Amino acid sequence: DKGNHRHFMEKEIYEQPEVISHALAHYVDFIENRVNPIAAAIDFAKVPSLAISACGTAYLAGLVGKYWFERYARLPVEIDVASEFRYRDIPLSPQSAALFISQSGETADTLASLRYCKENGLKIGAVVNVKESTIARESDAIFPILAGPEIGVASTKAFTCQLSVLAALAIGAGRARGTVSEAEEKQLVRHLAEMPRIMGKVLNSIQPAIENLSRELSKCKDVLYLGRGTSYPLAMEGALKLKEISYIHAEGYAAGELKHGPIALIDENMPVIVIAPHDRFFEKTVSNMQEVAARGGRIIFITDEKGAAASKLETMSTIILPNVDEIIAPMIFSLPIQLLAYHTAVFMGTDVDQPRNLAKSVTVE
Ligand code: M6R
Repeated sequence: DKGNHRHFMEKEIYEQPEVISHALAHYVDFIENRVNPIAAAIDFAKVPSLAISACGTAYLAGLVGKYWFERYARLPVEIDVASEFRYRDIPLSPQSAALFISQSGETADTLASLRYCKENGLKIGAVVNVKESTIARESDAIFPILAGPEIGVASTKAFTCQLSVLAALAIGAGRARGTVSEAEEKQLVRHLAEMPRIMGKVLNSIQPAIENLSRELSKCKDVLYLGRGTSYPLAMEGALKLKEISYIHAEGYAAGELKHGPIALIDENMPVIVIAPHDRFFEKTVSNMQEVAARGGRIIFITDEKGAAASKLETMSTIILPNVDEIIAPMIFSLPIQLLAYHTAVFMGTDVDQPRNLAKSVTVE
């Protein structure tokens, strides 16, 4: 049932504050502001490294997770798309653990990667939405994302729930490894606790700006997304979402890679969407934006209040989100990129929930 929404995708975007607060309640104790003990099957204090494998949007959630596990838990992470991971002959330590991220829990390549890690003696964790799925059944520990059924082929709430679970696991791993102090844990958990309310506020306020922008985007043939740090996987997720439902060609790049190739594409016909909260990378990303502006490129700037105040560049449009801590920025910044893809597809008149050539669950390799 779509409720008051035109498409399941729209409904699932607007459900995010609710499902995330439900998911977080499973992982976090909001009274003590602590992450709950992590499933005993995986001892994050002892593992020398972590492997992560997944496909599509779930892979991009894993890539954000990699930044968090490395930063907060000082845990080296090997990550690849499952179709590569399973065939690469990766040397893996049997003392390590591996996480497989999958909304459906049935993706063929992800399952094959899981079996490869199992044969190599690693402890297996499944970050899944469907708890009865094959990937969940074959794992030592299940980390449910509790997003509720996701019907739209384009993954939205599953992505932000995957991110929320990975954030909690990374903080928990950091506590177990002594790289996150008790005070830091409390602070990080407080930020997680604020997230659903902030998401609700953003969803209630950005739609008019996004719709205007989407009308413009629907006239374009190509779009480039740029980001640094955890905004880099988000740039790729924005591009994936746009191409999958609007059929507009889009690419996501690390902002620093601009001058190594894609800058040749810049002209007034290809909008460049820059995802840049005012974080440690902001100044660097702004200098990449300047390179775009100097070549006549049109910039769509997705930033926060501090970022908007700090940048003097002229943009085609600026979407301003509230200032938030860097641990929740990827979830908050997911909202405008999801809505931008959604409204652009609506303007194009495509079948948003059932885009051509795509299946919700890819059970063949
Ligand atoms: O069910 P899974 O999470 O394993 O699916 C993985 C991908 O097929 C999926 O995320 C796909 O990329 C989505 N359609 C993206 O919106």
